[in-house]
Amino acid sequence: MKIGALKESHAGEARVAMTPESAKALQALGHLTLVETGAGLASGFTDNDYQVAGAQVLPSAQALCQAADLVVKVRPPSTDELALVSEGKTLICFFNPSENKSGLNHAARHKLAVISMDAVPRISRAQKMDALSSMANIAGYRAILEAATHFGRFFSGQITAAGKSAPAQVLVIGAGVAGLAAIGAATSLGARTRAFDVRPEVAEQIESMGAEFVYLDFAQNDGQDSAATGGYAAPSSPEFRAAQLAKFSQLAPEVDIVITTALIPGRAAPELWTAEMVAAMKRGSVIVDLAAERGGNCTLTRANETVISENGVTILGHTNLPSRMAAQASALYANNVRHMLADLTPNKDGVIAHNMDDDVIRGATVAYGGEITFPPPPPKVQAIASASKTAEADTAGGATPAVPAVSEAERQRRAGLRQIALLVAGGGLMAVLGLYAPREFLQHFVVFVLAVFVGFQVIWGVAHSLHTPLMSVTNAISGIIILGALLQMGADLPLVQILAAIAVAIATINVVGGFLVTRRMLQMFRKS
Ligand code: NAI
Repeated sequence: MKIGALKESHAGEARVAMTPESAKALQALGHLTLVETGAGLASGFTDNDYQVAGAQVLPSAQALCQAADLVVKVRPPSTDELALVSEGKTLICFFNPSENKSGLNHAARHKLAVISMDAVPRISRAQKMDALSSMANIAGYRAILEAATHFGRFFSGQITAAGKSAPAQVLVIGAGVAGLAAIGAATSLGARTRAFDVRPEVAEQIESMGAEFVYLDFAQNDGQDSAATGGYAAPSSPEFRAAQLAKFSQLAPEVDIVITTALIPGRAAPELWTAEMVAAMKRGSVIVDLAAERGGNCTLTRANETVISENGVTILGHTNLPSRMAAQASALYANNVRHMLADLTPNKDGVIAHNMDDDVIRGATVAYGGEITFPPPPPKVQAIASASKTAEADTAGGATPAVPAVSEAERQRRAGLRQIALLVAGGGLMAVLGLYAPREFLQHFVVFVLAVFVGFQVIWGVAHSLHTPLMSVTNAISGIIILGALLQMGADLPLVQILAAIAVAIATINVVGGFLVTRRMLQMFRKS
């Protein structure tokens, strides 16, 4: 399959969807890689870099779209760009499906397969393809750097012979991916950082990064469970909003830098930093409004403009923060795209298998086979986790479920009967074995059955989020298995020796795998 990267045509967009490094990784999957001339220049990659990496450079967007079977880019395609991608081909980019009806119609009419990187479901398995998070991470970090450029003072407190300066006071509103990145950057520069979010569960993350969580004197989050909304916040009640605004009004005269990132996907940005709050801030303060593209969290924000209020507060409405760090943003985005392509090329043979049964691929595919496939059905992982909750909600809301609901009592009765049947069958089997098998075998067998039963019950009850610690336990168990198997290796029976060798081999895979995963996880936290 030929995969081609277009040069971004949007004015000021410096990112590119394929880097020389990701081109090499795509070639390792069996693909040929193409790139439009000059596509990587603004990110610091020359045509020669791509050629050295084994990619072919083509002279125009038209030539590229003609030659490539699958086109990758960053921004949603313009009408002209979309027209260049011919029937049956695949396009991967930020397609913005919820606001790009005409693009979706075009894709369906021309039987294009479109994978939208902004529609990748936010489930653990898809984290490596979560381009929205990659970009938000950069945006949060860059927001602090932009603020620092406009702020006329140090971020850290200093005492020098020339005088004393207090640390800058930073307030981050919305502690999602961008907010947490901003908190990290602000605290590492030495600022006193506070952060607010409607989801109280992020308080711990905020505090672990050295910032303070701004608590409201209110039942936080209106009792909403953000897990029920896919990890996103739910809209706040008017009372909660009023309490939130009162708190911000109180903080406005104290803070020097405000980074606003509050957003609920698919909605206009909530207005949280009013003109009165701006007026209450000190001269020289800076607001960076990351939600500028969706109306802004600050009343005075103008998208893509720098506004200076009457009292000298700078309000930055940049909507291209990741593009302002294009080399980094391109590297991360290209990696997200190549991970998506790795999932689309399961056999590493250069053949795309667009598996619509795969949660992640299905979730991100917004047009396929002449149909608009957006919005996708909820991912199966979430459906399993929230199944019982949904049933309760259906009953509470009086809605008639599509499938006749089985009552909780009936479900428990059936589960009880199943357990009794299993116990009777197991007991019967043991009785038969007890009649014929040697006494020593029976002893071991009982221990074995109990171990399997207890192990199954323990592992089955573990939540998905706890699978990593569970793995360390299985590693410990593997250690025990290896020890036992080594003791049995000296046995006289060849069958026992063979079984012991197999046990050692299988348990070793688990132990080595554990070390590799631990190493990768530790690397995630390494600073260099
Ligand atoms: P996210 O969904 O991970 O985080 C948003 C956070 O805002 C969530 O933690 C949510 O609980 C919180 N929130 C929602 N309503 C709130 C309210 N009323 N008060 C306080 N907190 C509230 O989103 P992410 O990925 O961190 O992006 C944040 C913003 O940055 C979005 O507006 C996104 O569009 C924008 N963005 C801007 C870029 C730029 O160049 N300007 C680039 C990338 C993202």
